[in-house]
Amino acid sequence: MKAAIAGTGSYLPERILTNMELERMVDTSDEWITSRTGIKERRIVGPDEATSDLAAAAARKALEMASVDAEELDLIIVATITPDFMFPSTAGQVQRLLGAHRAAAFDIEAACTGFIYALSVGELFITGGKYNKVLVIGAEVLSRFVNWEDKTTCVLFGDGSGAALLVPSEDEERGIISTHLHSDGRMWDILMAPAGGSRMPIDERAIAQKLNTVKMKGNEVFKVAVTKLSEVVDEVLQENGLGEEDIDFLVPHQANLRIIQATAKKLKLPMEKVIITVDRHGNTSAASVPLALDEAVRSGRIKQGDRVLLEAFGGGLTWGAALVRW
Ligand code: UT7
Repeated sequence: MKAAIAGTGSYLPERILTNMELERMVDTSDEWITSRTGIKERRIVGPDEATSDLAAAAARKALEMASVDAEELDLIIVATITPDFMFPSTAGQVQRLLGAHRAAAFDIEAACTGFIYALSVGELFITGGKYNKVLVIGAEVLSRFVNWEDKTTCVLFGDGSGAALLVPSEDEERGIISTHLHSDGRMWDILMAPAGGSRMPIDERAIAQKLNTVKMKGNEVFKVAVTKLSEVVDEVLQENGLGEEDIDFLVPHQANLRIIQATAKKLKLPMEKVIITVDRHGNTSAASVPLALDEAVRSGRIKQGDRVLLEAFGGGLTWGAALVRW
């Protein structure tokens, strides 16, 4: 049995923050941001919105596409590094907002690779026969965890959410073909938020030094990302006995256009076969892959029968991929 994606959904907050506005906030330029990252604008939540609100909005659209009621859900998994609370889980909040009273709910934290990890876990619950309707969500409010005075990070991130509903597939040809998860905790400190956990609780010093915000050694992360994504893409092809020509669409994590172009080149895929949202969304961490996937599905670019390769790389370090037959 395979797990198939029966519906997708996504949500973006209304407020658009452009590169031009950032030019007035920090010592940066539209030219620098565009040429180094491909980002032109990103979305920012309103004062009353939290991660679960974004997640629930994307979830409702995925349920609607699949014609499934929230009460039918067996499990809700939310991938996020920007939860509503330290605890309880954001998934529990989503369950409450949806009225999905039957569902179990928990969060997964694998930074920008979170959605790939969550999809892989959701798939196992379906193929193991335990559950029939599993909602997998990637949702982030990164704007509340960046240092708006640090030009090396604040220009990169955005808020948003994406969701996918997993169900058992009647058709053996359709569904998740394989998932590939990797992690290397030795490089934990090149992309992280130092304060706010048990190692460094938030105190006056942490707040003064903004240690509860994202810190990234961008250049180091960039190099590892290009290498590891190239390796994992090879792994997907090899394990499934496929060639580059067998991939119809690449839905990459949207951190940097240059990283995306490197992976597309490795796959010998023309850029028309690569879903790009980084220009409009920035890096939305765990939300970026399901956001891009939903956009490609709703616009009719991804069609039944297509082989779609999802991949992501992020803090942990973590990286991974999933191959899905649509
Ligand atoms: O999503 C999780 C995974 N994350 C990623 O994959 C991100 C990976 N990293 C990247 O995308 C890139 O490394 C960045 C976009 C973050 C940075 O690009 P880069 O080409 O690696 O630049 P850099 O960090 O080597 O910095 C080059 C210069 C520096 O100035 P100096 O030291 O050469 O004088 C920075 O201070 O660019 C400067 N700089 C900026 N200038 C204007 C850094 N940020 C900015 C900025 N505006 N926003």
